[in-house]
Amino acid sequence: MDNEALYKSTINDAESDFENVLRPKSMDGYIGQEKIKDNLAVGIAAAKLRNDALDHVLLYGPAGLGKTTLAHIIASELGAQIKITSGPAIERAGDLAAILTNLNEHDVLFIDEIHRLNHNVEEILYPAMEDYTLDFIVGKGPSANSVQLPLPKFTLIGATTKAGMLSAPLRDRFGVICRLEAYTAAELTKIVVNAAKMLGAKIDPSAAEEIAKRSRGTPRIANRLLRRVRDYAVVKRHPSIELSDAQAALSMLDIDEYGLDSTDVRFLTALAEKFDGGPCGLDTIAAFINEDAGTIEDVYEPYLLQLGFIARTPRGRILLKDGYNHIGLTPPANISDKEKDTDGDAEN
Ligand SMILES: Nc1ncnc2c1ncn2[C@@H]1O[C@H](COP(=O)(O)OP(=O)(O)O)[C@@H](O)[C@H]1O
Ligand SMILES: [Mg+2]
Repeated sequence: MDNEALYKSTINDAESDFENVLRPKSMDGYIGQEKIKDNLAVGIAAAKLRNDALDHVLLYGPAGLGKTTLAHIIASELGAQIKITSGPAIERAGDLAAILTNLNEHDVLFIDEIHRLNHNVEEILYPAMEDYTLDFIVGKGPSANSVQLPLPKFTLIGATTKAGMLSAPLRDRFGVICRLEAYTAAELTKIVVNAAKMLGAKIDPSAAEEIAKRSRGTPRIANRLLRRVRDYAVVKRHPSIELSDAQAALSMLDIDEYGLDSTDVRFLTALAEKFDGGPCGLDTIAAFINEDAGTIEDVYEPYLLQLGFIARTPRGRILLKDGYNHIGLTPPANISDKEKDTDGDAEN
């Protein structure tokens, strides 16, 4: 596994087995996201009291923050079956119709990457979500008939990293919309400690904290780093994972004290030295550092934005003061003028 694989959401089989082992099974084991948990707990309790399906739920936020995990927990707290699919897996309207007609009353249907549903498929979803009916056309031309089939009352849970790419009619049909936030170091420390327990490994609290600090606010990364650190401790024959194991293993992986790796640093350095601090378009800088623009946007930038090292402006990315300082360069004198240009809602 190369470094990038630590951050990516696409994973191989060994990785996904590992993730499944570490997935908490109940709300109690699901650390952080308190507001979302409170909100969902009320909805789940009410649905159970009324013996009704829970409202449709949209979970959005960057990869690795716990959307899939939460979808499973919601279903389990509801005592419902969960059927799992994803936007790109549903190619034709008929595929979705087949999935919907196979649901049982109060089942949960989880559609991952729901922003990637194609339009024809999405149209089937509107009446299904709103009225629990399947609308379709039988026949062609003037003799065509619209037929409606009742569906069981189900709960759709959609997950997306890109809520902005969801069409308004689809978004509006979710009763509960939850935005997952990056985790604090304290929450990630708990997650690492719990994960170590699940793996049957002993870990010193200081080592858990060190891993947490370098995990970019993301449980998936914390768990992956834990695995690498544990391997290191095993090789060193340490009965318990120590701080020194975490430090040594993470520096071997070129992960600095903020959790940045060599690609982040190349990105920041190119922005400073080749593009004069920006603004610089995503594709230009991606080509320059020889990285995929989508990977930069989804994997690297969210955390650099969160740290306040870079900003997105309508004219491109700019490097901020803390970004210059992090790579050991002096910010230019006119930097505050550039920062004034920053427009928070510019997505690209
Ligand atoms: N709130 C949490 N508490 C504990 N572990 C978590 C939490 N959120 C995520 N994880 C861990 O992180 C991993 C990735 O989470 P996942 O639900 O697959 O993220 P997403 O679907 O948002 O990409 C899971 O294997 C799980 O063990
Ligand atoms: Mg997921």
